[in-house]
Amino acid sequence: MNVVLIGFMGSGKSSVALGLAKKLKMKMVDMDDLVLKSSGRKSISEIFKKDGEIRFRELEVSVGKKVARRKSAVIATGGGVVMNKIILDFLRINGQVIYLKTSLESIFNRIKKSEDRPLFKNFHEIKYLLKLREPLYKAYADFVISTDHKNVSEVINSIIKRLDKYGRE
Ligand code: S3P
Repeated sequence: MNVVLIGFMGSGKSSVALGLAKKLKMKMVDMDDLVLKSSGRKSISEIFKKDGEIRFRELEVSVGKKVARRKSAVIATGGGVVMNKIILDFLRINGQVIYLKTSLESIFNRIKKSEDRPLFKNFHEIKYLLKLREPLYKAYADFVISTDHKNVSEVINSIIKRLDKYGRE
């Protein structure tokens, strides 16, 4: 089984995936990195600027499809994967999906200085996007872990406790 981390920008998916993979002796896969590699561009922002968001989403679908075939991987997704149902359909075949839930205020504080987040424009935009996506994150998740007031290792430990309950492979 894979472990698939979903959640909004700034919820800590990549850092948590890295630490969790290390602890569970699994491989870590970052979908944003793979999308970037497959695009031939230098940054995510460049993909959005030169090819457009729709192209980015197309690349995300094909990366999602490939990554779903991996075994024993902790997969950090991009915050927008839930906008294309097909990506989660692929990832769920062989993966347990965890939603890293983070409040709007924490998200804003964490990402306000980001450089390669083309969809981050201002507080209101983030508020709108989160409202739109939150029900989807919840719907796709096998379980939810709140990340507010927790550091990366606390989030990892909360995940491991829940995985144990589920019985991991
Ligand atoms: C996006 C989130 C980003 C990245 C892209 C689009 C989104 O990933 O995939 O900028 O639509 O929320 P992170 O969640 O890792 O920031």
